[in-house]
Amino acid sequence: MSSRRELFLEEMGLTPVWRLKTREAEDVVDAKAQVPNAAADPVDAAAASAPQPAIDADDRAQRIARMEWSELKATVAACTACGLRKTCTQTVFGVGDENADWLLVGEAPGAEEDARGQPFVGQAGKLLDGMLAGIGLKRGENVYIANVLKCRPPGNRNPEHAEVAQCSPFLARQVELIRPRLIVAMGRFACQTLLATDASIASLRGRVHRFQGVPLIVTYHPAYLLRSLHDKAKAWEDLCFARRTMAGLPQQV
Ligand code: URA
Repeated sequence: MSSRRELFLEEMGLTPVWRLKTREAEDVVDAKAQVPNAAADPVDAAAASAPQPAIDADDRAQRIARMEWSELKATVAACTACGLRKTCTQTVFGVGDENADWLLVGEAPGAEEDARGQPFVGQAGKLLDGMLAGIGLKRGENVYIANVLKCRPPGNRNPEHAEVAQCSPFLARQVELIRPRLIVAMGRFACQTLLATDASIASLRGRVHRFQGVPLIVTYHPAYLLRSLHDKAKAWEDLCFARRTMAGLPQQV
């Protein structure tokens, strides 16, 4: 299959999925997501290369689930739990207001993000900034941006299931620490990972889902929109829907 066709199918949700098998699919049910399974200690490269008993995976996820920001950041920076750290330049933790109402989640760092250590700073990031501006938002101001994977897959290949399993506890903890009022999951990969589903973006759009009890809205990935102009209008609808949903949420006390 040509890479162009692969990219297209990927964004349309027609290729294999990376699912957090331990997590229940969440729709409008207000359920707390389970901490996904993972294998080795993030700072133990030797252990990472050998299969670990399930108890270790749970133990690791539980330790991550108790971390505060500084420890979480240091643990991500030192993580060698999957092979990606060997090929990337640096980890890309996430950026923005740690008390933000809005959390945007993408897939994984690309070349530019890998070089600069920040998510969405390449072409897709420019489009994302424009999309945010369209609904009156600005990166860093009441907005936090993170990826499912903290390390760049070589050549921007698709993330592998094991990589998602290792990295997901970090994102789950970021969500818990930020406690955003709304999550916008961008692209098939983020949507399917957070919602533990293999459903297409098209079928998930236009509804409020939940992750860890936080309302979640699905939209296309900015990189996909750069290649598929006709879906930009749909992404705009999604962002307007997100803005309306945010406006309709009960005020926090
Ligand atoms: N694509 C993503 O999903 N994340 C980034 O940070 C950059 C591009």
